Parts: sequence; structure tokens; C-alpha cells
Amino acid sequence: SIIHVILTGGVGSRLWPLSRKSQPKQYLDIFDGKSLFEMTVDRNRNIADKVMVVGNIDNCHLSRNILEKTSTSYIDIIESTPRNTAAAIAFAAFAADPDDILIVTPSDHIIGDMAEYETAIQEAVEKASQGAIVTFGIVPTKPETGYGYIERKGDDVISFREKPNQVSARDFIAKGNFLWNSGMFCFKAGVLLEELKAFHPEVYDKSKLVWESNTNGNLDLALSMDIPSISIDYAVMERSKKIKVVSSKFAWSDLGSFESVYDYLVTIGHTVDENGNMVIGTTNYTAFIGVKDTIFVYTPTANLILKKEFSQDVKSVYNALERDK
Ligand code: GDD
Ligand code: MG
Repeated sequence: SIIHVILTGGVGSRLWPLSRKSQPKQYLDIFDGKSLFEMTVDRNRNIADKVMVVGNIDNCHLSRNILEKTSTSYIDIIESTPRNTAAAIAFAAFAADPDDILIVTPSDHIIGDMAEYETAIQEAVEKASQGAIVTFGIVPTKPETGYGYIERKGDDVISFREKPNQVSARDFIAKGNFLWNSGMFCFKAGVLLEELKAFHPEVYDKSKLVWESNTNGNLDLALSMDIPSISIDYAVMERSKKIKVVSSKFAWSDLGSFESVYDYLVTIGHTVDENGNMVIGTTNYTAFIGVKDTIFVYTPTANLILKKEFSQDVKSVYNALERDK
């Protein structure tokens, strides 16, 4: 069967204080009145036969509420601690049959243009059924360093480079044959596990041990702590020769930082003043004097004033917080 695997382990720390430890960004109703998690479920409803959710003990009730509200049946995999995406994807693959095709998606992205999305998924499922590990490539618009880059020749992938430095990212953009990795993947469960075993046997072995000792989808804490925390991008995508890319034409934003939220809100008509300042989270009249490209984020318990270009630094504020996370 075709299984939609939803990764929902992230806390969205770069969107603090909108996104909180107890209420990560994928569960907020701030975009279109529906949560990003619910939109993710809806988007894949007609594509997959089953839904599998890999989340954690702190947020599984938030996923459950949405899935029950929308009468979606699902398989629940509950991590006791986040061990990054290589392990999270391995759990899903162990829970499936080797020939099942997994469509792995984050739960916190915005995607526009359903027809293009479905075309891309169909193409990916086709390639995955022939044994490929498929990535979805997005035409890059700037030398963003927070993404993976796919060097390609047609559908063939020459190399995959996760989170390059500024100099390399500029070079990739200039060369023109690089796409951003959207963070969605499609493959046969068995193929992914073979590649993980070949390129990162420690994650493979330890994730297998954790999965095999699960009780009703709940994973053991002490055993989990022993799994190396590494993303699937570094563990497999940079190394495997089975990677293919589907060049995707749908609109995409990972809403990963306030800068990308700002860009997205501008495209849907959210107000920006003449100096590029924006207010998020309140309809109170807010004046900006002597500042430009500044974002003011209001929540009832914490506020943020941010120069847009420092958006990546919000994570360090979050990490340093003892309370109000
Ligand atoms: N269940 C679970 N457990 N999910 C996790 C965990 C975990 O331990 N860690 C991360 N996730 C989820 C996040 O919630 C997110 O939905 C997804 O996995 C990707 O993790 P991120 O931490 O957001 O990755 P990233 O943004 O740094 O990079 C990835 O996405 C980019 C596009 O947004 C990479 O795949 C890049 O190559 C890609 O360009
Ligand atoms: Mg991300």
C-alpha cells in the first residue's frame, strides 16, 4: 500500500513565541484558520491508503485531536524523545512492509497548487516503485543556507548537499542546476532501510532495537537516548546512489523562520508599512518609528521584536529560555 508518513517531532523554535513547546507551529490555527498539520493530512487524503504519524509524547494528543476530528484512521508512533529524522523515518519504515511505498512529509509546510502537487507525487510513486529514493526539488530563489541542495542533470541526482555555507550556496545558485530539497521524500520502506543500514548502521541497529521493543507504538526512552541524533539528509540522502528528484512546480514554503513567514504573509496580502515593518499576532494599531524591516510578534504571554535579517537567531533565544518556551 501507499502510506503517508507525517513527521511531527519539531518544536518550531525559530518561530518562538508564536510556536511554543506545548503548542508547536504545526498545530496553530494562524494560517487560513486550519492548522498546518490538518492541511497536511487533507492534502494527502486521496493519495495514500494509510496515515502514519511519527510524533512525540508531548504533542501526540494534539495530532490525535485533529485526526479524530477529521475521522482519519492512523497508525501512531510515539517517540519518548526526539532523535532526529533518520530515526523517525526508520521507525515508520520498520512499522511498514518492505514493499509499501512511503510518502514522508513534514507537518509544518505550506503548499499551494494541488494539481501540481498531485502530479509530483504520482511521478514520485512511479519512481519509488522502481526502487528509487525520491526527493522533491524546488527551484531556489536565494542562497538560503538552511536547506538541502540537489545537484541534478534531468531526473538524475549528481549530488545532495545538506545545509551548505554561504559561499557554496551562492555558487550552487550561480551554476543553475541545483534545486532546494523540500524535505519530503518517497521510497519503498525496504529500500530506505537497506540504504540506512549501509550508510549509518548504528542508527539502523539502534532504531530497530527501539522499534522492536515498542508497546502499542510507544517507544522506550532509555533505549531511544542511545540512537545517534542525525537527520536523514546527512545519514542517507548525501550518500545514497539511489536518489532521484522530481522537479516540483507547486508553491512551497517551509515557514521555517520569521523571514519566510513574512514572505509568505506578504504574498497573501498581510499589511506591511512603508518601511517594511510587519505586525503578527494582534490587530492592535502598532506604530514603528525609526526602524525598518522589523517584525513585531505579539502573544498574550511573550512578545518578540525582530530585525527580519536576524530571523535565524530566534532559535538561540528559545534555547536559552528557562520558562515561556
Ligand atoms: N517525529 C520526529 N522526530 N519528527 C522530527 C524530528 C524527530 O526527532 N526531528 C525533526 N522532525 C520533523 C520536523 O518537525 C519537520 O517536520 C521535519 O521533521 C524536518 O525537520 P527539520 O528540523 O525542520 O529539518 P530542516 O528544516 O532543518 O531541514 C530539512 O527540511 C528542509 C526543507 O524545509 C531538510 O530535509 C532539508 O534538506 C530541507 O531543505
Ligand atoms: Mg524545517
